[in-house]
Amino acid sequence: MKILIDEAAIQRRVTELAADIRTAYGAEPFLFLVVLKGAFMFAADLFRRIGAPGMRIDFIRLSSYRGTHSSGKVEIPKGELAHFAGQNILIVEDIVDTGLTLEVFTKALTDAGARSVRICSFLEKTTVNNGRVKIDFLGFPIPDKFVVGYGLDCDEMHRDLPHVAVYNEE
Ligand code: IMP
Repeated sequence: MKILIDEAAIQRRVTELAADIRTAYGAEPFLFLVVLKGAFMFAADLFRRIGAPGMRIDFIRLSSYRGTHSSGKVEIPKGELAHFAGQNILIVEDIVDTGLTLEVFTKALTDAGARSVRICSFLEKTTVNNGRVKIDFLGFPIPDKFVVGYGLDCDEMHRDLPHVAVYNEE
């Protein structure tokens, strides 16, 4: 598979993002909320580099994709939303594609009484999202191609790659 973003470039960018996030929150407490499963690897690298005093971590499972296509419907475990009331939330996501997942989830967090909601996404398919979701901290803009690696999968495969590759391209 063709490498789109290599391991060294990813690691450099994650270090920069960590510094941006530390600066943005300062001493203010916030919850680093990782969207499973795709963001797990990005989140682990990023989290250990932020070093902000008031930071805690939690995880949530949202799903809208089956194979290489969106199901068009976002599933949020409703019982968990109440925990987020009154908190500053930093959503940590692997990729924003159509923006549907984070549009729905951001609104659900706001409706549940979150104090603030910001988004950190490793990747964005910029021409597809087209401004639908505003990303506060972005790793890399990418073209409209299906990608795998560094946590991202195709039917649960290829999450272990240390780089990002275009699926099914030589
Ligand atoms: P959205 O709701 O269309 O923005 O899709 C967001 C979710 O779709 C992401 O969290 C991923 O799980 C999945 N996704 C979208 N594009 C890709 C891709 O190129 N590779 C792997 N997963 C993707």
